[in-house]
Amino acid sequence: NALTIGLIPADGIGREVIPAASRVIEAVLPSSVKLNFVHLDAGFELFQKTGVALPEATVKACLDGSLDGAMFGSVSSPSHKVEGYSSPIVALRKKLDLYANVRPVVTPVGASGKAIDMVIVRENTECLYIKSEKIEKNADGTRTAYATRKISETASRRIATMAFNIALKRGQVRQNSASLPLVTVVHKSNVLSITDGLFREVCLDVFKNGAEGAFAAKTRMDEQLVDSMVYRLFREPHKFDVCVAPNLYGDIISDGAAALVGSLGVVASANVGDTFCIGEPVHGSAPDIAGKGIANPIASIRSASMLLSHLGWNAEAARMDAAVDKVLVEHADLLTPDLGGKGTTDGVTAAVLKYL
Ligand code: NAI
Ligand code: MG
Repeated sequence: NALTIGLIPADGIGREVIPAASRVIEAVLPSSVKLNFVHLDAGFELFQKTGVALPEATVKACLDGSLDGAMFGSVSSPSHKVEGYSSPIVALRKKLDLYANVRPVVTPVGASGKAIDMVIVRENTECLYIKSEKIEKNADGTRTAYATRKISETASRRIATMAFNIALKRGQVRQNSASLPLVTVVHKSNVLSITDGLFREVCLDVFKNGAEGAFAAKTRMDEQLVDSMVYRLFREPHKFDVCVAPNLYGDIISDGAAALVGSLGVVASANVGDTFCIGEPVHGSAPDIAGKGIANPIASIRSASMLLSHLGWNAEAARMDAAVDKVLVEHADLLTPDLGGKGTTDGVTAAVLKYL
């Protein structure tokens, strides 16, 4: 009965929030479990010191089967091009084929107002983010830039399958609910009829015929053009359940959705593939607050809970989420400044530990 988790804090507040999350993992697991943390390097600061952003040892540890999963903090990526540097989390997702970015957006249980409880399932490997761009000079001396967008049947099928599987799982824990879980397919196939058309077509097919009929029998499917999706997301976020989207739309709607639940500091994600999972807070390295001890650890604690749940520790994950909700709802005094409080990373972590 052992669990080995890689910790990759990387840059900025990653070094403050990943240790907080690891303390909560340690506390929630039964003492009979032999828990082992493996500390791994990556990041822009490492690159500046050594010329390497993602050491081979870090990749190898994630690939060679020695880890059950990993937690990633955040990286600082300069907005200008730095020779030899590219983002280590983007590279890790690619090397480990973590093709789904799963982002729950939730209001805490017990909070006042209408509850938001949605999961955005974002395709993580293609779309416009294949970075196939070119620029050409026109006869009149002006320039025109082009980007190629890739949507494959294979990637669309596996992301849609993951979204419907997540919906099935949500349906199971929601036994008393009258309605079946709903998957909203986000696209713009009225304009991009070939690329988004293919994404939509595959999602529909997965719904009708996937997982041996269980998706059609136990979930519902809906579709939404991405522009009206944003509109509805802001007006009636409580009506969404699971949303599945190509990479670019998924990126935009999930950051937007983060604004609906208070702060980037509370939004978690998991990078999921068929063989590995990395929990990762959605936020970046927050250079404006790094080193001050006031970074909100909740996004990382919730990401750790997603990782544990992915590894089958569902009851422990649920306890972590419940403790976080209790702190959010009942201890406004303890919360960090991003949520309007005067609290600290340590103070929030201690309160979560207390409620476990
Ligand atoms: P950011 O997410 O780092 O910060 C945006 C704002 O939210 C800042 O005011 C920050 O203080 C606040 N914030 C973020 N996380 C917080 C937390 N846990 N607690 C309290 N406040 C929090 O995004 P920004 O400023 O656009 O980027 C900073 C750096 O992070 C850049 O180098 C960027 O490239 C990188 N970045 C990395 C990501 C990743 O590792 N996946 C994702 C987004 C940005
Ligand atoms: Mg983003």
